[in-house]
Amino acid sequence: MAGTGDIEKAAGVLRAGGLVALPTETVYGLGANAEDPVAVSRIFQVKGRPPSHPLIVHLGGAEMLDAWVEEVPQTARLLAERFWPGPLTLVLRRGRRVPLEATGGLQTVAVRVPDHPVALALLAAFGGGVTAPSANRFGAVSPTTADHVHAELGDAVDFVLDGGPCTVGVESTIVDVTGDAPSILRPGGVTREDLEGALGRRLAVPSAGPVRVPGQHPSHYAPRARVVLVEPAKVAAEAELAQQSGHRVGVLLPASFAGAAVKVHAMVTVPGSMAAYARGLYGFLRDLDRQGCDLIVASLPDEEGLGSAIANRLRRAAGPRHTG
Ligand code: TXA
Ligand code: MG
Repeated sequence: MAGTGDIEKAAGVLRAGGLVALPTETVYGLGANAEDPVAVSRIFQVKGRPPSHPLIVHLGGAEMLDAWVEEVPQTARLLAERFWPGPLTLVLRRGRRVPLEATGGLQTVAVRVPDHPVALALLAAFGGGVTAPSANRFGAVSPTTADHVHAELGDAVDFVLDGGPCTVGVESTIVDVTGDAPSILRPGGVTREDLEGALGRRLAVPSAGPVRVPGQHPSHYAPRARVVLVEPAKVAAEAELAQQSGHRVGVLLPASFAGAAVKVHAMVTVPGSMAAYARGLYGFLRDLDRQGCDLIVASLPDEEGLGSAIANRLRRAAGPRHTG
């Protein structure tokens, strides 16, 4: 676990234009000084991410918001007060200090205050904003431990702050508050139900359809193994069939079938609690990869609460793969 000396060292790396992997409550991020366009560009090189894909600026507190965006609508103010620090990202009109490198050329910027003691200590010591995408190669599974970061990025990152396993486990919920009606761009750690409760109005549910913003390709969050999604009751039978036809099959077995004997290469019974499932999801996918599975059979949880974020990630993991 990172100590005070590590925090100071990491802040120095950021000031010198370097890259620091930092823990947040959602996933580990690959951070750079948000106001240093050269450092920000290095993030894209290291991740292999197209430069048009916008990043999230992490701030040390909600009181910093006004300094980073052009204007703060009432809805944004309300959501920031209610959910920060926490797994909520707000898309607002870009303030002048945000370089276009960080926003993929957009005139809007995504901002959040993470709820992790190590991230908050780093942001306080550094003083500025830190742009950080998830600390994985483009399109791959997001890291939820410092070990995952080392496995993903190795020496390409200047310093890794270890903050233990992430407690939420899926990325932040992204809400666009630039228009008249707020809309969810990505389901995540704050549920739609919680947002609607705070706002006193219904929100549009994000579709699993075509790309909505740069950086939301159908294939994302993907393990090496191909992922297929089937009805919960068919997971065991489909998996055994694929195993018999020569695949090395990994199974994410729905909690309601716990105890079933499934003749496959590797199996994880997913937790019945959506919070525990979200926390474990990326680790499960990594484990099945590490065990050499070439096919993962899974099903979608009910799409309510945190189940929406889990279902969104599984759909994208099962989506058509990037080529080139
Ligand atoms: O939980 C999280 O959000 C993690 C941790 C590290 O904070 N970060 C994360 O970053 O998931 P990343 O880069 O993997 O995903 C950020 C997504 C982009 O893919 C893009 O879809 C969206 O945020 N985004 C960023 N800026 C945007 C903008 N101006 N308008 C719309 N979407 C934006
Ligand atoms: Mg990501």
